[in-house]
Amino acid sequence: MGRAETGPAERGPARPQPLIGTNVKMTLTPSEATAYLATLRDLTADVEDRTLFVMPPFPAIQAAATALAGSHIAWGAQDVHPDDRGAHTGDVSAPMLADLGCTYVLVGHFERRRDHGETDELVARKARAVQRWGMIPVVWLGEMARGRSGEASFPEVAAQLRALDGVDLERSVLAYEPGWAIGAGSRPASPGWTREMVARIRTILAERCPDPDRVPVITGGSIDLQTAPALFRQPGVNGLFVGRNALDPVAFSRIIRAVSPTGGSPDRPARTP
Ligand code: PGA
Repeated sequence: MGRAETGPAERGPARPQPLIGTNVKMTLTPSEATAYLATLRDLTADVEDRTLFVMPPFPAIQAAATALAGSHIAWGAQDVHPDDRGAHTGDVSAPMLADLGCTYVLVGHFERRRDHGETDELVARKARAVQRWGMIPVVWLGEMARGRSGEASFPEVAAQLRALDGVDLERSVLAYEPGWAIGAGSRPASPGWTREMVARIRTILAERCPDPDRVPVITGGSIDLQTAPALFRQPGVNGLFVGRNALDPVAFSRIIRAVSPTGGSPDRPARTP
């Protein structure tokens, strides 16, 4: 498990299974990741109708591979170099990540763009590298600063999406997270804002791929237990991408359980360790 899976055929066009993941950013040493993942694995062992993933920092990916082998939780990386090999000191390539069993690789996250000046063109090269090695790029999309309205903000997001030349969108995950909603001191986008932006993203997807409903669009930015269910319920949203509020595995497992794939009552927490 761990790949984006599809729902029952009788419910109409294949829809991706809800996808709930976390990018833990520059937190968790390998030892801390081992402890975190053991707890998360235990707390979510019965969650089979949601695809779960965790993106630890590079040095902790091997620990994730060990801690999560045979579980329902996939693991991935937070970045990748676009080339497969070469003189790029400090960088990590897609074949290295594939060798570590990564399913997902995040490309072009807000913080990579903000801190490292990553461009749309570079992000597309990274996404292609990820796909060359059989993994799924999680492509960050979002406006860097808050605009007056969704209409005013969307051209930036549209340009990011249209720049994904040569990327198979049906083998990608799109993570729409407004930059202004990310990080400590920020607040999540409203359900209405998210709905509007995701609808616009899906309009472009419909122009660019034969089966746009197969492309999971997940959303995030300061999501917590209170805000997760309403964001998850927005049309066109297939899942959630959680940051700092997933750093406690108990809190993350509660968020995971608070979103019901069927739209019915959320799961009750199974237990507290
Ligand atoms: P945050 O991070 O939840 O801490 O805002 C979200 C993200 O960067 O994906």
